[in-house]
Amino acid sequence: MSDNNQPTSRGNWGTRLGFVLAATGSAIGLGNIWKFPYITGEYGGGAFVIVYLFCVLLVGLPLMIGELMIGRRTQKNPVGAFKALHHEKSPWQITGWLGIASGFLILSFYSVVAGWAIAYIFKAMAGFSGTTEAIQSQFGALVTSPSASIMWHTIFMGLTIAIVIGGVKNGIERWSKILMPMLFALLLGLMIYGLAFTNGGMQALSFLFSPDFSKLSAEGVLSALGHAFFTLSLGMGAMLTYGSYMKRETNLMKDAITVSFLDTLIALMAGVAIFSMVFHYGLEIASGPGLIFKTLPVLFAQTGRWISVPFFVLLSFAALTSSISLLEVVVSYFVDERKWSRIKATLLLGGMIYLTGILSAMASWKVMFRGSDQAWLDVFDFITTNYMLPIGGLMTCLFVAWVMVDKERAEEFGSKGLLYKGLLFILRFVAPIILIAVFLHGLQLLPFMEY
Ligand code: PFF
Repeated sequence: MSDNNQPTSRGNWGTRLGFVLAATGSAIGLGNIWKFPYITGEYGGGAFVIVYLFCVLLVGLPLMIGELMIGRRTQKNPVGAFKALHHEKSPWQITGWLGIASGFLILSFYSVVAGWAIAYIFKAMAGFSGTTEAIQSQFGALVTSPSASIMWHTIFMGLTIAIVIGGVKNGIERWSKILMPMLFALLLGLMIYGLAFTNGGMQALSFLFSPDFSKLSAEGVLSALGHAFFTLSLGMGAMLTYGSYMKRETNLMKDAITVSFLDTLIALMAGVAIFSMVFHYGLEIASGPGLIFKTLPVLFAQTGRWISVPFFVLLSFAALTSSISLLEVVVSYFVDERKWSRIKATLLLGGMIYLTGILSAMASWKVMFRGSDQAWLDVFDFITTNYMLPIGGLMTCLFVAWVMVDKERAEEFGSKGLLYKGLLFILRFVAPIILIAVFLHGLQLLPFMEY
């Protein structure tokens, strides 16, 4: 973990631990604590979780190694990286463009949800009290108030822009080191509380871990895959960009395993904690994006502020360490390829993302999508997670395994032996086949299946 390498002009992570924490910070965010529990609730529990875990292991982890490899090798943004490894007019650069578009759209709605988390810090300070219904109705009041939603979205986007302008290294590396362990400790506490002190613990475990595949729809399978990408920050070049600030000697394989493991662990812990509460209080399992904002405050009414305030503070920080990586992907392109200053790129693109986010902050604005009127937030989330990230991931996989890999680069996998051959086999055949199959299944187009 030496600190004495000269940084390049684009910058490097200070230490290897710094990189691992920043990448973990990107991976762990609203996806783990807000999204994983609610989509698991909507898609029926155990079977969804199993498919998700398979996707993390067989597609997510290998792809993370692939993205980090591209980034570290080229030291470039997602578009520049594909050009550098192929040629200036390479069609593979579309993958980079798709990633930048995904980062743009994801951040626009991510910031709105993160804004709710900040709003809940203040609600927690004031204290949660009253009947279960009264506590839960606070969420509806927040999201249906355009001025409140936009105000919190403004604050969160402002923080994200401020950090990215300053450059990520010092602030984020340092803060991640303190905040990530705290988030872990708090979630562990909530999970133990759920298991030991509520009547819902056992039910929560069986809901999450005993699969009933008859409950899993084709759309559920596609969403499990999409979520594996979303939660690991894959398929849009975020890991590629973070890898581009990496030093050459790092062992990618080990770091990718660490990041994926921690990310999965946190999601499962959040799931156990939240579903224990849901079953104990007889709350609605499939209550959609409002799930954590409606369930946890019911518990917090009893535990008091000393748990609830830190929880929402940490949730907001987890969201922030993810949102900066989303913005960094977009900004790095304009800095590297268009030679814009970091300030100009961050302010301009951050500003455009902020404006797009207002669509998501307006809960009453609907759009016709998949046969019904839906909120912009849900539509952006659905399209980016279920289509854009898996397509970006598929193209990255194919590129790494068929175009980029050669003998010399094989060393970058950290091993030339069996492990390397296995990884290459997965990236060449297993991951693309799974991706295409899941994709067709989600569109209900897989032959031999009845829809
Ligand atoms: N992985 C983040 C989460 O789970 O909240 C979200 C995210 C960050 C997705 C960065 C994509 C990305 F590039």
